[in-house]
Amino acid sequence: MPQAGSLEDEHRRPSDDSQNPVTAADLVYFTSASGYTGRFVDKLGREAGQIPLLTSAPTLLAQRPYVLVLPTYGGTAGQPGAAAKGAVPKQVIKFLNVESNRSLIRGVIGAGNTNFGENYCLAADIIAAKCKVPVLYRFELMGTSEDVATVNQGLEEFWTHQSQKPA
Ligand SMILES: Cc1cc2nc3c(=O)[nH]c(=O)nc-3n(C[C@H](O)[C@H](O)[C@H](O)COP(=O)(O)O)c2cc1C
Repeated sequence: MPQAGSLEDEHRRPSDDSQNPVTAADLVYFTSASGYTGRFVDKLGREAGQIPLLTSAPTLLAQRPYVLVLPTYGGTAGQPGAAAKGAVPKQVIKFLNVESNRSLIRGVIGAGNTNFGENYCLAADIIAAKCKVPVLYRFELMGTSEDVATVNQGLEEFWTHQSQKPA
């Protein structure tokens, strides 16, 4: 039985995906109980699919290419490799363990807090490296109005550019 422990564990869709929520949005996000990332995504005013808060819940299935927005949790620096441990929320690992979700990711936007120093938005860097996609932007907490405007304009340009790429 695959565990939600690495980005490589599951190489297929869930065997019974009839219970999984689906999204046709080109933006997918995770927000924890504090909800900062969700508030930022709300301010963008774009359609977005939400990765379930409960790790035990059937995960979201993306239906088209998307940009992922996610916060970093628990990056602890000090020893080699320690910073990366636990930085990506388990719910996001479960979502990316679904091969179809992993194949549709095109970019990452990181949410975090600069108080965490070199671990600022570390989860976005980890996913970008694993999935070989760019980190498009980083913002703190629920983002400023400038962040909202920059991300909205950046996403328009990003998707225009993507649509011009050869298949
Ligand atoms: C226990 C804990 C650990 C955190 N670790 C990091 C971190 O390593 N790097 C970072 O940039 N932000 C870190 N943060 C800040 C969160 O990423 C930030 O508050 C984010 O806005 C939370 O988004 P959410 O409310 O949508 O979950 C941490 C926050 C908490 C509570």
